[in-house]
Amino acid sequence: MRRIGILTGGGDAPGLNAVIRAVVRTALNEYDIEVIGIFEGFNGLLDPVNVKLLGREDVRGILSRGGTILGAANRGNPFARPETHDGVEVIVDVSDELVRNIERLELEAVIVVGGDGTMRCSYDLIAKGAPIIGVPKTIDNDMGGTDVTFGFDTALDTATEALDRLHTTAESHHRVMLLELMGRDAGWIALGAGIAGGADAILIPEIPFQLESVLDRIHQREQRGHPFSIIAVAEGARPHNGEQVFRLQADRQRVARLGGICQQVAEELSARTHLETRFTILGHLQRGGQPSPFDRWLATRYGAAAVRLAAEGEHGTMVSYRGREITSISIADALAETPKLVDPSAELVQTARGLGIEFGEPR
Ligand code: F6P
Repeated sequence: MRRIGILTGGGDAPGLNAVIRAVVRTALNEYDIEVIGIFEGFNGLLDPVNVKLLGREDVRGILSRGGTILGAANRGNPFARPETHDGVEVIVDVSDELVRNIERLELEAVIVVGGDGTMRCSYDLIAKGAPIIGVPKTIDNDMGGTDVTFGFDTALDTATEALDRLHTTAESHHRVMLLELMGRDAGWIALGAGIAGGADAILIPEIPFQLESVLDRIHQREQRGHPFSIIAVAEGARPHNGEQVFRLQADRQRVARLGGICQQVAEELSARTHLETRFTILGHLQRGGQPSPFDRWLATRYGAAAVRLAAEGEHGTMVSYRGREITSISIADALAETPKLVDPSAELVQTARGLGIEFGEPR
């Protein structure tokens, strides 16, 4: 029987299980190909291999479940794996062993579901002969080569609901309420949720902000009889002539983690307005929980398309959503378009400006 593998790399995102389910069902039903589930990202392909044959029963009931039944590993780079030798941690390149294990397991292809870090790793493994098909995931929506990644829509739902909730309490107490949202260097979640949730100001990494402009907006609202404001802050936002704020520093296996800008802005606003100010960090609530119907639908289509590419031997490609069509692109080309950032002159941003949403741009 023909055989392919599937793994989920990097951080999780709502919809991973929907991809796994679609891969198993499509492979068995359409192609009579069996699917090996590889656990803990690329780590599952190392010695000892951590894999399991996935049947229809294994993927029953997981469509609506967040997380991933295969586990994820965002410290799973096989080119720089930490190992302990004689009590000392050393970083070793185990990529050749990984490629050999794909051959030993007789996998025609490995479907790798991940974001930019996982796709960069995949690209290097492809150069070593690994037969990889990519499926783009991330709540940040910053992966190039596709209009949208699954996970983003669910994160947007969660973020918008949080803004709606903050709205009512901000209004009752006449407060300035700030919400910090994920997204790394891309402002897609803050921009999307800010517009959908009726924010008065949106701070994103692509438009460095000046606090005076935000203060002007808050005071203008107060003068118009609305002594409360809602501000959506992307974790990667930074002041004009200032730096991004990090909550975790980088190490050899992990890039630094953004976080903390919202508190900084809240404290500065609080010092410069008589209105009470509060901040909330939404954090990993954006990554957990049930995927939205759109994400289930997109993840399912991605999974089915990845199996078709695998069956046709189209290694080195990534499934993609363009316009309203599922298509594919080489992983190399997708990476060349990564990170996909918000264009400050795009229609979405213009629309927000036209609605009176403040981006903190210098006057
Ligand atoms: O890339 C997804 C993401 O949730 C980012 O939005 C966020 O900056 C990061 O991962 C958080 O990583 P961790 O789960 O390691 O804290």
